[in-house]
Amino acid sequence: MLERVLSSRRAASVSDDGDESKTRKHISLGTRVTNYLIRTGHLWPCLLIGLVIVVVTSFVYHTRDVVCISASSSDHLSRLRFFAFDGLETDFGSLGVPWCRSKHGKTVEWTTKDLIKGLEEFVPIYETRPIKNNMYGMGFDHSFGLWFITQWLKPELMIESGAFKGHSTWVLRQAMPDTPIISLTPRHPEKYLKKGPAYVDGNCTYFAGKDFVDFGNVDWRKVMKKHGIKDLSQVLVFFDDHQNELKRLKQALKAGFRHLVFEDNYDTSTGDHYSFRQMCDQFYIRGGGHSCFKDSDEGRIRSRRKKFWEKAVDIEELCGPGEAWWGVRGQMRDDFNHSNKAISYAEHFKNSRFVESVLDVYWELPPVAGPSLTHQTRYDPARASSPIVEDGRYGLFRSLGLSRLEASVFNGYTQMVYLQVSQE
Ligand SMILES: C[S@@+](CC[C@H](N)C(=O)[O-])C[C@H]1O[C@@H](n2cnc3c(N)ncnc32)[C@H](O)[C@@H]1O
Repeated sequence: MLERVLSSRRAASVSDDGDESKTRKHISLGTRVTNYLIRTGHLWPCLLIGLVIVVVTSFVYHTRDVVCISASSSDHLSRLRFFAFDGLETDFGSLGVPWCRSKHGKTVEWTTKDLIKGLEEFVPIYETRPIKNNMYGMGFDHSFGLWFITQWLKPELMIESGAFKGHSTWVLRQAMPDTPIISLTPRHPEKYLKKGPAYVDGNCTYFAGKDFVDFGNVDWRKVMKKHGIKDLSQVLVFFDDHQNELKRLKQALKAGFRHLVFEDNYDTSTGDHYSFRQMCDQFYIRGGGHSCFKDSDEGRIRSRRKKFWEKAVDIEELCGPGEAWWGVRGQMRDDFNHSNKAISYAEHFKNSRFVESVLDVYWELPPVAGPSLTHQTRYDPARASSPIVEDGRYGLFRSLGLSRLEASVFNGYTQMVYLQVSQE
């Protein structure tokens, strides 16, 4: 009762200051309602109902996107929240995201602005691709990367190893309409034509089918002479053949090629062949790289990220017998993992030193756009460079035409890399 009197006085003092605002009206109305409820004995039931309404409204408000959307979208949202709170760069910063260092710290000429301009040009080209569903072959990110690098370098000859149905041959052709291509692939792409879409190029020499020769066994001096190539720095070689990349690098160096693109530059402990990423992973850290303890900082970060990204690797997947983390659990894989060989840390270290001693440029293609835009759920963005179109820039994503593409084309990113090499 005393409280009621005090409340009325407070309300009165507000109304006495001459303010005609809604607050004053609201307070006096509230007071009147309270008085009424006390008089009729309904105050406590009403307070209880009010409390329930507040709790339910607040719950719905804070979980509205989870409540209103499908399960997979809610997964996506939690994934986005996860890395938004975490801060991508710092997450693996202390662990070291693999990156090969070039001999003199040189990098590529092109900038993010050039890449964005390139995307504007490439999206409509990509939409005309003959092989719409290129499962087991390149998706959008790497198709763009190959096209961009090729049209920037303008080689006089393009060589590809691993053509499958011919999508990458088509990409090379879009970049350089009149330049000859040499394609090495065990099964001729024309074979796929019988079953569905494939691409066979009119200005391409195929070492395929019964004419197939592995890149390492080609007499490149003879082939270059036949194509009138005198300067090997005018040749671009593209590898998508799932072979040990150290082996391919040595073969390319022996032949004298300088510009190389590798499609699948798998992260440590993933993939079916030894890659540059694997070779350059933390070899320069004294005592060597990763922690294989489940409860270490790395172990905890990895197991958290594993919940959100299909290709993220936890400690159990990272470390093989004897805590061997290099390559794939201490193995050097080759030829679609048909061959694999255990290597010691010392050997791995030697390989890494060799790679860096011949690198003039190492450039990993960034993902074309952040996961909140592409909705990709596979690769961990914390293990990749910042995307060309960063999360939150939906306007740019849409204006580049990227929102017109199916989400599945953004799922195949594996750190495609461009290397410029020269002898040790
Ligand atoms: C992932 S697919 C290539 C995809 C293709 N670049 C694309 O974008 O659609 C790998 C290809 O490598 C071929 N391959 C297997 N062993 C090879 C070798 N030693 N040299 C060249 N290609 C090889 C396979 O037959 C297959 O066509």
